[in-house]
Amino acid sequence: MSRIALKLPGKVALITGAASGIDKAAAIKFIENGAKVLLADVQDHLGKSIANDLGPNATYIHCNVTNEQEISSAVDHAVAQYGRLDVMYNNAGIVGTLAPTILDLELQGFDRTMEVNVRSMVAGIKHASRVMIPCQAGSIICTASTTAILGGMANHDYAVSKAAVIGLVKSTAAELNQHGIRVNCISPHALPTQLAVNFFKKYLGIDDEKMIAEMTHNMWEFKGARCEAADVAEAAVFLASDDAKYISGHNLVVDAGFTCFKRLNITP
Ligand SMILES: NC(=O)c1ccc[n+]([C@@H]2O[C@H](COP(=O)([O-])OP(=O)(O)OC[C@H]3O[C@@H](n4cnc5c(N)ncnc54)[C@H](O)[C@@H]3O)[C@@H](O)[C@H]2O)c1
Repeated sequence: MSRIALKLPGKVALITGAASGIDKAAAIKFIENGAKVLLADVQDHLGKSIANDLGPNATYIHCNVTNEQEISSAVDHAVAQYGRLDVMYNNAGIVGTLAPTILDLELQGFDRTMEVNVRSMVAGIKHASRVMIPCQAGSIICTASTTAILGGMANHDYAVSKAAVIGLVKSTAAELNQHGIRVNCISPHALPTQLAVNFFKKYLGIDDEKMIAEMTHNMWEFKGARCEAADVAEAAVFLASDDAKYISGHNLVVDAGFTCFKRLNITP
């Protein structure tokens, strides 16, 4: 009988934002692939219950990513519990102000979005590097978005924060490659997690979550497939694994080509 090879055997991963959505899916896939995972979030009840369901290779820790000390402690906790940190997945994020125009954008809200979506990832990379550099190995993954690639798909603060993540990844990859540490990001297209549902609820004034989920899925058609959290999680498993040992500074876009092309509307 053939057995499917584990892609992350024995690897230790810290995943932020793991109580919900994409990172919850990633925690599940990482464990299925043989990793030990420290799930970090601010939704403690949910996070603990997910870690519990995932079994002995999952642990939950409270970590507000806007607090550098809490990120530092989460990294230290991973090392204390499992002996090292192989993968840091900076995923926690918020949708931001939802200001519909630049004139509506309150700069305090802009700062808050940058704090949660960008500053947190700077701290995540900093503290993961602190423990990875002595090992001269590691994989750091950050979550960006297709809204960073094409304008007009989200409120400015959110889109700008995600564009900054791509810049951060390239800048830090350039330094950390000298230590055998890879830094990459993943840019998912829209998928109906709590974050996206909240976005459309507020943006369009619609309350029906089922309708919003359907609408989100239909924003881009790819024959036979829809963008699911598990697709993004698979991309993360790849970047975390040794299969990606020569990939760094990359933005892996999970959008079935949405940001790659425009079709010419030619009819005979
Ligand atoms: N869903 C989409 O359409 C989509 C598309 C592209 C990128 N993204 C990005 O994916 C990432 C995950 O979002 P999601 O869609 O899974 O949404 P989600 O709301 O399901 O998950 C986000 C998680 O981040 C946590 N979080 C928020 N603020 C935090 C903080 N200060 N400290 C710790 N944890 C915090 C939340 O509690 C939640 O569990 C985000 O960075 C988001 O910007 C989402």
